[in-house]
Amino acid sequence: MKILVTGGCGYIGSHTCVELLDAGYEVVIVDNLSNSKKDVVKKIEKITGKEVTFYEKDVCDKKALEKIFEEQKIDAVIHFAGFKAVGESVNKPLMYYRNNLDSTLTLLEVMSKHNCKKIVFSSSATVYGNPEKLPITEDFPLHTTNPYGSTKLMIEMILNDLYISDKDWSIAILRYFNPIGAHKSGLIGENPNGIPNNLMPYIVKVANKELKELSIFGNDYNTKDGTGVRDYIHVVDLAKGHIKAIEKVIKDKGVDTYNLGTGNGYSVLEIVNTFKKVNGVDVPYKIVERRKGDIDACYASTEKANRLLNWKAELEIDEMCKDSYNFVKHNK
Ligand code: WQD
Repeated sequence: MKILVTGGCGYIGSHTCVELLDAGYEVVIVDNLSNSKKDVVKKIEKITGKEVTFYEKDVCDKKALEKIFEEQKIDAVIHFAGFKAVGESVNKPLMYYRNNLDSTLTLLEVMSKHNCKKIVFSSSATVYGNPEKLPITEDFPLHTTNPYGSTKLMIEMILNDLYISDKDWSIAILRYFNPIGAHKSGLIGENPNGIPNNLMPYIVKVANKELKELSIFGNDYNTKDGTGVRDYIHVVDLAKGHIKAIEKVIKDKGVDTYNLGTGNGYSVLEIVNTFKKVNGVDVPYKIVERRKGDIDACYASTEKANRLLNWKAELEIDEMCKDSYNFVKHNK
């Protein structure tokens, strides 16, 4: 089976390509490298000992996508490609709507034309907004508070409407909680350019003395220690969830949505203290005011993914913190 992975050079995409290859699938990556590097392809091949077919193309480029489907017999698609910075999306909404929606619509049109109707879509827990209660189940009300989250919600709607129009489609929508960590090899991981928006990449840069100290955005939330609580999941567990989702869309028609989290919530201070403990490093921090748009707490019910995908996250927070730092130490 040959799987097209859009955005396959990215953080979650590259880890998923490794798991796909290890599971015996053939992998074709299309990535415009707008937020990733081409050497990731070689690293995926080094980790797995298998070859990857790579197209440096933009998923919005219909002619390029047509050519890929003409040259490759694609059995299913995992769609990661898209802009994903919450803050940037608030400042540049048109860029986000154009890119994330246009790329998806182009992909689905080309897939339809080539009778390839099996897709796994990378969505986000951000579509839940600020949940009334916890843990979050997939039938919770959906509410987005930024253009990035709105593009994810709109694409979920597009996919549901597509299935209603054509029952031959097999669609799995995966809502990620907070992916952190890296492959044990230290060859692939998350290392955003510039000042990171997310917690773990920021902690790693402070530990690595690239940044002076961590600002903890508020300690007056309604949580165990006042700092924000999130459901952090090891990126390798998340990648393995995609293998289960691919198996599902290859086997069954239909459209369904699944939370990919651990079901456990950890506070910012718990993450900082665990990171310091397992890596034997200091992470200086200061408490500052809340970040606009942040919620108190968020963690998943994983019952549906356990039951219908036969998937459960296995890696613990210690490994997530160790593997995150191991990657940066390997890539100084
Ligand atoms: C986690 C916690 C912050 C940075 C976002 C997106 C979501 C998904 C994952 C794409 C919060 C605190 C953070 C810092 C801090 N991305 N924090 N200092 O906001 O839960 O989710 O990334 O799909 O869509 O919304 O993740 O890592 O930014 O924040 O105190 O420098 O860490 O307040 O409590 P978030 P995060």
